[in-house]
Amino acid sequence: TQDHGANLYLVNPSLNLTFQHPRSREIKFYPSFFFSEKLLVLTVATEETDGFRRFMQSANYFNYTVKVLGMGEAWKGGDVGRSIGGGQKVKLLKKAMEDLADQEDLVVLSVDSYDLIFAGGPEEILRKFQQANHKVLFAAEGLIWPDKRLSDKYPSVRSGKRYLNSGGIIGYAPYINRIVSQWNLHDNDDDQLFYTKIYLDPLQRETLNMTLDHKCQIFQNLNGAVDEVLLKFGTGRVRVRNTAYDSLPVVVHGNGNTKMYLNYLGNYVPNAWNYEHGCSHCDDDVVDLSQLKVSYPNVLVGVFIEQPTPFLPEFFQRLLTLDYPKDKLKIFVHNNEVYHEKHIQRFWEENRNVFSSFKVVGPEENLSQGEARNMGMDLCRKDATCDYYFSIDSDVMLTNRQTVKLLIEQNRKIIGPLVTRHSKLWSNFWGALSLDGYYARSEDYVDIVQRKRVGVWNIPYMAHVYLVKGSVLRNELKERNYFVLEKLDPDMALCRNAREMGVFMYITNRHDFGRLISTANYNISHYNNDLWQIFENPVDWKEKYIHQNYTRIFTENFLEQPCPDVFWFPVFSVKACDEIVEEMEHYGSWSGGKHEDKRISGGYETVPTDDIHMKQIGFDKEWLHFIREFISPVTLKVFSGYYTKGYAIMNFVVKYTPERQAYLRPHHDSSTFTINIALNNKDTDFQGGGCRFHRYNCSIESPRKGWSFMHPGRLTHLHEGLPTTNGTRYIAVSFIDP
Ligand SMILES: *[C@@H]1O[C@H](CO)[C@@H](O)[C@H](O)[C@H]1NC(C)=O
Ligand SMILES: *[C@@H]1O[C@H](CO)[C@@H](O)[C@H](O)[C@H]1NC(C)=O
Ligand SMILES: *[C@@H]1O[C@H](CO)[C@@H](O)[C@H](O)[C@H]1NC(C)=O
Ligand SMILES: *[C@@H]1O[C@H](CO)[C@@H](O)[C@H](O)[C@H]1NC(C)=O
Ligand SMILES: *[C@@H]1O[C@H](CO)[C@@H](O)[C@H](O)[C@H]1NC(C)=O
Ligand SMILES: *[C@@H]1O[C@H](CO)[C@@H](O)[C@H](O)[C@H]1NC(C)=O
Ligand SMILES: *[C@@H]1O[C@H](CO)[C@@H](O)[C@H](O)[C@H]1NC(C)=O
Repeated sequence: TQDHGANLYLVNPSLNLTFQHPRSREIKFYPSFFFSEKLLVLTVATEETDGFRRFMQSANYFNYTVKVLGMGEAWKGGDVGRSIGGGQKVKLLKKAMEDLADQEDLVVLSVDSYDLIFAGGPEEILRKFQQANHKVLFAAEGLIWPDKRLSDKYPSVRSGKRYLNSGGIIGYAPYINRIVSQWNLHDNDDDQLFYTKIYLDPLQRETLNMTLDHKCQIFQNLNGAVDEVLLKFGTGRVRVRNTAYDSLPVVVHGNGNTKMYLNYLGNYVPNAWNYEHGCSHCDDDVVDLSQLKVSYPNVLVGVFIEQPTPFLPEFFQRLLTLDYPKDKLKIFVHNNEVYHEKHIQRFWEENRNVFSSFKVVGPEENLSQGEARNMGMDLCRKDATCDYYFSIDSDVMLTNRQTVKLLIEQNRKIIGPLVTRHSKLWSNFWGALSLDGYYARSEDYVDIVQRKRVGVWNIPYMAHVYLVKGSVLRNELKERNYFVLEKLDPDMALCRNAREMGVFMYITNRHDFGRLISTANYNISHYNNDLWQIFENPVDWKEKYIHQNYTRIFTENFLEQPCPDVFWFPVFSVKACDEIVEEMEHYGSWSGGKHEDKRISGGYETVPTDDIHMKQIGFDKEWLHFIREFISPVTLKVFSGYYTKGYAIMNFVVKYTPERQAYLRPHHDSSTFTINIALNNKDTDFQGGGCRFHRYNCSIESPRKGWSFMHPGRLTHLHEGLPTTNGTRYIAVSFIDP
């Protein structure tokens, strides 16, 4: 190992110089030639886990000299997260200390690494160790482990943590050596018990000059102390503050089941993110796909349609428009809904040759969600050429075409793009877990969702959409059953498994990636069900059904006035027109244009049309909402000063055809103003048609599909429907503010 950094900054205790200001945090009044001690960090790590990398990142940031013991060896120390064990760590330390035993000036810091970060530098540790005025200092915690019966043997403390924790030990090399050289147990015996027994022996405690870091000056164990700890943002660096002892611990240890809390702290400490500079590791180790010499990595896309989902054809279109070579994409679809088979069939027929492969497992397989997700993931795991597994649920609308590339470039084992429910705080990750493993809000959750803090965040749970490296599926996550665990939801099962394997999960909000749509209240008993989604998924509704040039009405005055006070503007997309017509024809009960009409009050219509009311297909609430959202703003623009209530009783689709009703005689409407939206195309779908306003002798004979007329209903605008001479013409009409 290199020996740089924290060598020379402390008073040598053998010179017998004591601090004149023991409470002072500064040591700069001492001449530097006295500072002759060195700090060596020893840690045991058998694998380069994500936690280990984070540890090393923080150690390198502060220029610690770190010696790693046991790397590559098989771990035989037991599952220390759950039971006793860890003896292998002492054995390795004992061996390492043999060579260091005679270095009197060497201070050794022995720490865990998978669940630990440095929040301060070596100078600070040495200074605080010096202030503690002992030869050996152990970390302390408030909970006793592993043998509660030893409690009485501990010296009592007036304030501070009473019990020893072996995750952090600092001391002079000869003394540490005298402790660990006593080890003669097995690899799976408990290291903490070993140290505890030595410490609790009054004679050894005195001769080895040992004490505990009762007030977390150096070591912060988080177990049982999460409530004592806060992030402290400073310029450049972020620390943790222990509010119980008003200390700034240097070594932060996520012992026990506080790993997730450490992960949260590690998103900031020591320099991962702060208010001034934002994210400082986001561009570390990234893969630059534009510099790729060989071809793009192979990605298996697992698509999960587990419930009826609005806008599924649009979902598939977005897959198609992802900016990624399609011959590098294999698609696996699990569809649990008979309702969606037609959508998948259509997509497949149109795009069967676009992707490298396309496999669908349908509802007839009767797979549980967990089984289906296991199957998708396993397809990538078993295929050595599968570089990434990209899992996406049908309720994720990826609006960012670069998503797959951006995730690959971020180069993490598991990473999801942040997607949120429109204008809600609902998203695809949790910042913290409750004790029973469900959602808990982390302090930073809202800021991350709203992108006030931007970065790549280590989080305990994510779902809906994520990318996993194929290599990880063949190593750390090589079992085949991660989505099925106890009674957990499949994604919760996956996340718990990943956490237990020490694989970090990240969410990135560095870009806008897209949104989550709502699948709640999705009624699939209509013919075109998405039309009804105007309340539940307004953004997707607008994107699908509102004309592309609609907003230009307001920005560029994109509308026409073909006759006096008759305004003409784009409002519906082609899809909206087609689906409304389909919906009506599917319903099929056209009124026949008779004067007697049970649907209206009075039961008599003087100028009847052959029509179906919106109410008859259960679309009246949605239609009125459409009027309020999309027609009212136009009204205000063209009839300025008139604020419409957006209220209408008569909302209907009219069908003109030479065989039934071809035209409508001159009449007024019972409205303040009327809208009349053309639902199909002249010349392709019908001939003739149009509208004539008598007062101005003005006709509009070429209606445009998706465009609406808006004109006053009474007095000035006597009008007639011109004859449709061939084919069928459809219009949607509302008499607004009757
Ligand atoms: C670590 O060392 C580098 C190079 O010597 C130096 O630039 C940097 O400031 C040091 N970091 C700290 C936190 O002292
Ligand atoms: C422990 O060592 C310090 C010097 O490092 C000394 O001042 C102190 O008296 C010692 N304490 C005991 C109990 O021996
Ligand atoms: C589908 O699976 C469930 C649970 O495994 C079972 O209860 C049900 O009977 C199965 N249905 C069919 C049609 O096989
Ligand atoms: C779904 O739509 C149908 C047809 O309009 C209607 O009869 C039914 O009540 C609706 N179901 C729900 C739960 O709203
Ligand atoms: C929107 O307007 C532009 C011209 O201004 C036109 O090219 C485009 O086709 C229009 N979009 C639709 C959907 O009609
Ligand atoms: C109406 O306009 C047409 C041409 O657009 C013209 O031939 C006709 O004479 C006009 N009628 C009246 C009453 O002005
Ligand atoms: C009516 O339309 C059909 C098909 O759209 C076409 O074949 C026919 O020639 C048209 N008839 C007239 C009289 O234009």
